Amino acid sequence: MTLSKKDKNMTHDVLIIGSGGAGLSAALTAKELGVSVIVVSKTMPTNAQTCMAQGGINGSFTPSQISSHIADTLKSSHGLGDEKMIVQMCEESSKAIEWLGSLGVPFSLDEQNQNAKRFMGGASEKRTHYAEDYTGLKILHSLYDNCLKNGIEFQSEKLLLNLIVHDGVVCGAIFIDIATGSVEEIRAKSVILATGGYAGVYHGFTTNGSGSTGDAIAAVTRAGGVVSDLEFVQFHPTALKNSSILISEAARGEGGYLVNSDGERFVDELRPRDEVARAILAQIDAKKDVFLDIRHIPNIAKLLPQEIKLCKIHEGIDATQELIPIKPVAHYTMGGIEVNENLEVSNIKNCFAVGECSNSRVHGANRLGGNSLLEIIAFGRLVAQNAIKALAKRKPIVQNNEQLNHDRIFVREIWNYTNQINFYEKREFLGKILYHNAGIIRNDIGLKSVLSVVRQMQKEYPFMGLGDKSLEYNMNLIEFVEFGNTLEVVEMMLVGALHRTESRGSHYREDFKETRDDAFKAHSIFWKADGVLCADFKGANK
Ligand code: FUM
Repeated sequence: MTLSKKDKNMTHDVLIIGSGGAGLSAALTAKELGVSVIVVSKTMPTNAQTCMAQGGINGSFTPSQISSHIADTLKSSHGLGDEKMIVQMCEESSKAIEWLGSLGVPFSLDEQNQNAKRFMGGASEKRTHYAEDYTGLKILHSLYDNCLKNGIEFQSEKLLLNLIVHDGVVCGAIFIDIATGSVEEIRAKSVILATGGYAGVYHGFTTNGSGSTGDAIAAVTRAGGVVSDLEFVQFHPTALKNSSILISEAARGEGGYLVNSDGERFVDELRPRDEVARAILAQIDAKKDVFLDIRHIPNIAKLLPQEIKLCKIHEGIDATQELIPIKPVAHYTMGGIEVNENLEVSNIKNCFAVGECSNSRVHGANRLGGNSLLEIIAFGRLVAQNAIKALAKRKPIVQNNEQLNHDRIFVREIWNYTNQINFYEKREFLGKILYHNAGIIRNDIGLKSVLSVVRQMQKEYPFMGLGDKSLEYNMNLIEFVEFGNTLEVVEMMLVGALHRTESRGSHYREDFKETRDDAFKAHSIFWKADGVLCADFKGANK
């Protein structure tokens, strides 16, 4: 759709940035509530990490199911979960699943014609509802289908550059239009950030696409907001060894084994992901290969059709007959944009964040399988209601082009950067050293070394300019800007990991193996003052 000049200047009620499950749940809810809503995203809708949550969505229907769901989630958060937010998420789970059912999500059924449920790691009972092993994908497609039916406006292929903030209140955001290369603004009375996490920074060692670079996390700190707990990164135990393609936890939930090259099982496969990932790494460090074995599971082709196809396509094996070679890789980031109980961003009024880009404190130091889809649906609906409530008391939008002019100059200057250093090589190198030094197991020397490499790369950034100087669909430009965001986010992640001198959930320090509640039952927070990175622990005993 081509917009007229008048339309381009229009102020929307709600601007949603990101078209994964969180963004689309928010969009549908906002539309139901009768406000004007626009969804703007870097990729085409349905190209989102939501599809990577293959195994299912947690749902608890009775009081005892809800209690055990809350208890398991709190336990897995290792002291960094917010009980109120967790209770809210678990109590909303039955409504979230019923809502998805009403939108047409084809949940798999059991013999009683009820939603079938499976185990996921760290769960004390079966509570994960699923659509074969395509759960995230089916949810995302159903949401998008309903957005189209409801006439929700989409603008795709626009990379978020910065938020427009005046006197601590958001007024919209600036984007690069990927198709034309132009820098444009979209004004709105409330903004919802739903751009996903930053596990893509572990380039080559992640289930995520290379676009998972924490763009909104970096933009929030540049705009005066706060982010938190970035050192908590989840490594999924089972990705294909040669391609890092995810093989769902559902494989273990349905009874799959992990075995080493001596044919031994070495861990309870349904422990939480952090523990299983460390157990696998110990085998790899002992020079053993590790495999997932699903050959013995009855009906496996019906339960896990996607996994079987992925094994065939990416590893060339028949998983119903052969062992699947695996390794753990970065999958999900627990830290993100600091929000209050209304999911409003700290220090930026009328700006909200939801899903993986936010730190709503429902996962703490380690997320349970099945809770990511639940968070994006339950809180995706909630955030839209809160963003709409906030419309009533917002100050008038300031019509000032300062941020737009600043960002136009920034992008124009990129064209003049020299191309002496190839940032694609740097991106690959960074992914590798992050995986080995800031990955499943960390220590002081490794973290410091990577941090000094990152700071060197920040200095070299103006020498990593574009080889391709075209305007239209210049992915070289987009990936260059993403790499700038990567360097900002990774610096904060490493500072958090370095200063958290303890082990807690997914953050495991071999030089500080104990959990230290006396000093670190606290959230790391990061912000920028005059462009300089500041960090602290909130709630720590000092
Ligand atoms: O293994 C999986 O299916 C991933 C699920 C999740 O991240 O929640």
